Order: sequence, then structure tokens, then C-alpha cells
Amino acid sequence: MSVADLSTPLKFAYWVPNVSGGLVVSTIEQRTSWDFDYNRKLARIAEDAGFEYALSQTRYAASYGADKQHEATSFSLALLAATEKLKVIAAVHPGMWHPGVLAKFIITADHISNGRAAVNIVSGWLKDEFVNFGLEWLEHDERYVRTEEFIRVLRGLWTEEGYSQAGKYYDINDFTLSPPPVDVPGRAHPEIFFGGNSTAAQSTAGRVADWYFSNGKDLEGFKENIAGVRASAAAAGRRPRYGLNGFVIARDSEKEARETIREIVAKAHRPAVEGFRDAVQEAGASTRDGKGMWADSSFEDLVQYNDGFRTRLIGTPEQIAERIVEYKLIGVNLLLTCYLHFQEEVAAFGTDILPIVRELEADAARKAGVDFDPESTLPTPLLSKAGA
Ligand SMILES: Cc1cc2nc3c(=O)[nH]c(=O)nc-3n(C[C@H](O)[C@H](O)[C@H](O)COP(=O)(O)O)c2cc1C
Repeated sequence: MSVADLSTPLKFAYWVPNVSGGLVVSTIEQRTSWDFDYNRKLARIAEDAGFEYALSQTRYAASYGADKQHEATSFSLALLAATEKLKVIAAVHPGMWHPGVLAKFIITADHISNGRAAVNIVSGWLKDEFVNFGLEWLEHDERYVRTEEFIRVLRGLWTEEGYSQAGKYYDINDFTLSPPPVDVPGRAHPEIFFGGNSTAAQSTAGRVADWYFSNGKDLEGFKENIAGVRASAAAAGRRPRYGLNGFVIARDSEKEARETIREIVAKAHRPAVEGFRDAVQEAGASTRDGKGMWADSSFEDLVQYNDGFRTRLIGTPEQIAERIVEYKLIGVNLLLTCYLHFQEEVAAFGTDILPIVRELEADAARKAGVDFDPESTLPTPLLSKAGA
């Protein structure tokens, strides 16, 4: 079976800039702001431009340029309340939350937003946040053991009455959350996204995530990155979907776009980028097989902290649209995007790039003899109650 789903349109998300400094650690001029008024306007621009999701960031302490941070779940809820269609994905660390408290919070957010709440479960890399809060900092692979239990509790409490789960980290006993999440056709519960790159992350994602987020990658890198998730998902009889991060620099000419990335990197905040590289050793190269996220990232890659330049969405709108559809053909279902000047560039993405993507998607489907329905949404085979 083909890995690509050619009959349904690609989905688009943007990173919510809820921490200061934008999405690149550079002194280049950025008109992006981390405050709420800016973000409320951005969310409305994004939903009008055709974006289906927004992803917030969870950060409790300054690091890597993000000197100020707004808390992710409250910020996401406020964005849901300020919009009509946008699904907002709140990033959460299992080590900071009890899954029952989070499950309840998200149910309330889901009711306030008429079924648009989602979560991104991140296992964390910034050790100081945990240690200085007096929380336990688990070793790398053990963090994923806890994450897996955490996600199972979430799904259980969202879909079952009298739910019980006994494990190493949580002990849930005959619990019913009432009301349950909103009943949305095609969705068994609020969607569960998952970020991580290591072998442990991939196998966990395959077993329990609805969506796997990959950091920025070239075409081969993306295929390699998701191979472990696919294998683990197949063994569990599941079909998660795949999101890919990419930093978009669309300009009138390719030369101008290249000049912009050159300037971003030339003006990188070197001590912050190098400090980040040191901090993520724990998350990346220090895993047993050295295959963590960022293990092979260059200095340039790390200027966008989720390797967004590696996806090479840099050039004219036509070039970027073509590149996006190449990723669709190798299995990307959702493109997670970031920009220098979010409001302006999200709007421009909607007018200049998205229509070309839709045309190219229709062409690709026609060539493969598949019906492309621009109005359809992805089938959700894995979002059954059992998560299988
Ligand atoms: C799309 C995406 C979003 C992430 N968002 C956050 C976040 O908001 N806060 C955070 O501490 N880590 C975040 N992470 C990092 C993960 O927590 C994790 O540390 C990282 O993916 C490294 O995983 P690995 O050690 O398994 O490679 C994110 C990762 C991805 C891929």
C-alpha cells in the first residue's frame, strides 16, 4: 500500500509564538511578537488562510533565546476561545502534569471550543526546568516509559467510564470523567500529537500517538525518521499520521529567499545556539544509540530549534509548493510551519502557496488514478476508542 494519502488534502499548522524571540535564534529583524494580542490576531489570520491547526510551545524557564514564555495550556485555551475553526494543540510535559488533571482540563477546553482541543505530548529536554522545580528528571528512555503510560491514561479517561490503569508511574482506579470530550464525527477523543526522535520516542509514538511530529528533515531524512514509528505502529496494528516541521521563507525570487536565510544564520545568536546544543546532548546524542533529535544537527540547523531549515521550504511560492507536495508523496499528512514575520507570512502562505499546493495535489492524484477531494478530511482509522 502506498504511504501517501493522495485523496485528501494536506493539512497545515503553524507554531504559536508564545515565547519571546521568534522561531529563530538570531538578531535579524523579526516582526513576530510573543504577546497575546499579536497571537490572537495571528490565529484569526491563520484560520482564514486555510490553516487547520496551531501548535503551542511549553517552556517554563529562559533558555535558548526564549527569555519570556507564556504557559501553553492557558494560552492555547485563550486562542481556542478567540477563534472559530482553528484546532489548537497544547504542548504538555508528562513530568509536570498528572494525566487525570490534564485530561479534565482538555475536556473543558474541548467543550469551550466545540471539539477543537488537542495535545502535543513532549517528553522534554531542558533538565533545569525539572531539577529547579524540584521534580525528578528521568533518564532519557525512562521518560518515554512514563510518556507511554501517560498517553494511555489520557485516552482511557477520555473514552471509558470507570477507567483503571495500574503501572509504574500512575495508578488510576475506577475513574469516570464527566462530561466526556465533545463527540466529533471521525474523532474518538481530542487528538494526541507526539514529538521526539530517538529510537525510544519512535517506538512509543508507534504504539500510542495519533500523530507523530518529525523535526525538519530532507526527503530521505524524513523517510528514515519515520521508519521506526511505522515499524512499531505496524506491530501494534496502528496507523498514526505524520507531521513535519519546516521553516518557510517565500520571496519573489529564489535569490532573495537564499539571501534571507544567509542573513538569519549570519546574525545567529552564537552563544545561545551553542548553549542549546550543549543542553540537548541529553535529549539527543546521549541516548544509548546516539539517535536522538539534534544528534546530527549542524550549527545552521540549530538556529531554527526544530531543524526547520532542513526541510528547505526556501524559494519562490511555486518552488515551495512543489517541495511540499514531494513530502506529501512520501507520507507527510501535516506540515507544521514557522516564519520570520508570522502574521504577514502566514497570510501570504494562504494566498500565494496554498492554491498552488492544492493544484499540484490534484495533479498528483490524477496521475495516480485517485480521486482528490479538496473538501475531505483525513480518514481517522486509528482514532477508534481503543486507539488502534
Ligand atoms: C514538533 C515538536 C514540538 C516540541 N515542542 C516542545 C515543547 O514545546 N517543549 C519542550 O520542552 N520540548 C518540545 N519538543 C521536544 C521534545 O520534548 C523532545 O525533547 C525532543 O523531541 C527530543 O526527543 P528525543 O530525545 O527522543 O530525540 C518538541 C518536539 C517536536 C518534534
